[in-house]
Amino acid sequence: MLNSMPNVDHVFAACRSPSKCSELIDLKQEFANKITLVKLDSTDEESIKEAQKQVAQQTDRLDVLLNVSGILKPDTSIRTVTRQDLMDSFQTNTIGPLLVAKHFQAMLHKKSTSNDPELTFEQGAPLSILANVSAKVGSIQDNRIGGWTAYRASKAALNMITKNCAIELNRKNVVCVSLHPGTVDTDLSKPFQKNIKKEKLFTVELAIQQLCTIMKNIRLSDNGKFYAWDGSELPW
Ligand SMILES: NC(=O)c1ccc[n+]([C@@H]2O[C@H](COP(=O)([O-])OP(=O)(O)OC[C@H]3O[C@@H](n4cnc5c(N)ncnc54)[C@H](OP(=O)(O)O)[C@@H]3O)[C@@H](O)[C@H]2O)c1
Repeated sequence: MLNSMPNVDHVFAACRSPSKCSELIDLKQEFANKITLVKLDSTDEESIKEAQKQVAQQTDRLDVLLNVSGILKPDTSIRTVTRQDLMDSFQTNTIGPLLVAKHFQAMLHKKSTSNDPELTFEQGAPLSILANVSAKVGSIQDNRIGGWTAYRASKAALNMITKNCAIELNRKNVVCVSLHPGTVDTDLSKPFQKNIKKEKLFTVELAIQQLCTIMKNIRLSDNGKFYAWDGSELPW
């Protein structure tokens, strides 16, 4: 993100175990004063509150809040889906991002200094961004093959949360969007990569770059939309 958005002054990178996350520790070494590691478990509201307090010690305002955490329980049919998979999926993919938005939303606000609706975030538009990393399979309209009920339903519900936040935070000039990163070469997608064409399997670096490009180009009029990695709009 720091490479893809050079104007970003500082990133608060939240994860469950900052002392064990080697990727974030490496980034901290590379970007020293530009990154703060914050402990946050999105299934634990107290942990989210503590994380917000830690961030608030360093700043009173955030330009971007990016909810990334997610899990995939790959049930193949409604005949085999389990209550536990549903509970876990909703905890992490839906309730977690909502509670993060709840406790951090007050830090996301931009006074309107311009009324030019064509200005993008990168061009200094008076907006901040709440972006929830969702998934195309969470689109109800796009669902043609079923399966992955827990994941699909939890991401569809996350999309509803994006829409609600978009309405409720609109007066504070917070633009809320859901983002589909495409198929990215991570632990989450590893078991399902067999039938993915090489050019459609993105590296983590490329996926982040693509999502940052979408965020840099966000305008006030994008509030409440669902975007795929290439900037195309997805149906809810
Ligand atoms: N990979 C894809 O092809 C793909 C496609 C569409 C959408 N997505 C979405 O993209 C997002 C990132 O997924 P990924 O592919 O990067 O998966 P990943 O490699 O499995 O990473 C998921 C991340 O979520 C974190 N996480 C899980 N539960 C958490 C919790 N309770 N509190 C805080 N963090 C938690 C994990 O942290 P730990 O390291 O502590 O476990 C991990 O860093 C997810 O929302 C996923 O649904 C991915």
